[in-house]
Amino acid sequence: MARKKIALIGAGMIGGTLAHLAAMRELGDIVLFDIAEGIPQGKALDISQCGPVEGFDAKLAGSNDYADIAGADVIIVTAGVARKPGMSRDDLLGINLKVMKTVGEGIKQHAPDAFVICITNPLDAMVWALREFSGLPHNKVVGMAGVLDSARFATFLAQEFGVSVRDVNAFVLGGHGDTMVPVTSYTTISGIPVDDLVKMGRSSKERIDEIVKRTRGGGGEIVALLKTGSAYYAPATSAIAMAEAYLGDQKRILPCAVYVDGKYGLDGLYVGVPTVIGANGVEEVIEIALDDEAKQNFQVSVDAVKELLEACKQIDGSLA
Ligand code: APR
Repeated sequence: MARKKIALIGAGMIGGTLAHLAAMRELGDIVLFDIAEGIPQGKALDISQCGPVEGFDAKLAGSNDYADIAGADVIIVTAGVARKPGMSRDDLLGINLKVMKTVGEGIKQHAPDAFVICITNPLDAMVWALREFSGLPHNKVVGMAGVLDSARFATFLAQEFGVSVRDVNAFVLGGHGDTMVPVTSYTTISGIPVDDLVKMGRSSKERIDEIVKRTRGGGGEIVALLKTGSAYYAPATSAIAMAEAYLGDQKRILPCAVYVDGKYGLDGLYVGVPTVIGANGVEEVIEIALDDEAKQNFQVSVDAVKELLEACKQIDGSLA
C-alpha cells in the first residue's frame, strides 16, 4: 500500500512543527506549501535530515506550487497572518479571508478528496470560509480548536489537583476565543466529575472559575509571553491527533469546529462541539445536554461566531 500523503498549507511556526510531528509519527510523506519561497523547501530539508537519526521513513518536500498537493489524504491549513499590534479583528479577518480563498481554490483544484483541518484564525469563521471556497463536503472540512482548548484546560486542572494529565478528561465547547465554554460538569479526573471534586473539598469553585478564565485566555497568555508570535507546539500536536483519528479510522470523540446543522438548535454554521472522527471525516456530531449556564454561554459563543460570519459576507460578497 502506498504511503499516505500529508499536505501542509503554510510552512510557518505551526506548519514546521506539524511537519516534524507527522514525520516522527510516520503519518505519511509530507509536502510543505507556502507562498514564501525557500521557507517550505528549507524546512522540508532540515526535517528530512532528522530521518537518519530518528529512523523514520517519510519523504518531505517543500513547494510554492499547489500542483504538488495533488492526491493529499490530509491537508492541514495554517496559512495566513497572526494578529499584530495595531491590527483590528476586522483587518485580520479581511487578510486571512483572502488567504482562505486562494487556499480553498487550490484544494478544490488539486486535492478535492482530502480531509482538511483548518487552524488559521479567527478559526470558526476561517474554517467556514475555507469550506465555502473549496466546495468540499462539510464532513471533510474541520477546524482545530477544541482539542487545543481542552488540552489547555486539562493542563491547568492537572496542576490544580496535583494529578497526571493523563487522568484528566476536559471538555470545551463553542467558538475558539474568549467566548469558548469549558464545561466543568463534563470534565472528569479518572471519571470523577470536577464538580464532585470541588464538593469533596479538593479545590474551590473560585479556583475552578479562575482556571476556566485562564483557559479562555490561553492563547493570549502565550502571545504575551512570546511577544513575536503565537503558540505553535500544542496547536500542532492537537491537529495531528485529529489527522491520526481520520487516517486510522479511530472513531475518536474530539471537540472540533464542525458544521452543525440541526443539532444544538443551529442552522448551518461552524462551531466547536463533540464530534466522532473516523475514515469518513466527521462521522457524527454529538449533541449533549447542557445546563442553563452552559447553554447560555454556548449561545454567547455562537452569536460571536455569527457576527464573524456576517463580517466575512460583508467583505466578500460571494459568501453571502
Ligand atoms: N498561502 C500560503 N501560505 C501563506 C499565505 C498564502 N496565501 N499567506 C501567508 N502564508 C504563510 C506565511 O508565509 C507563513 O509562512 O503562512 C505562514 C504562517 O506562519 P506563521 O506566521 O509562522 O504563523 P503560525 O504561528 O504558524 O500560525 C498560523 O494559525 O493559530 C493560527 O493565528 C494563527 O492564523 C495563524 C495561523
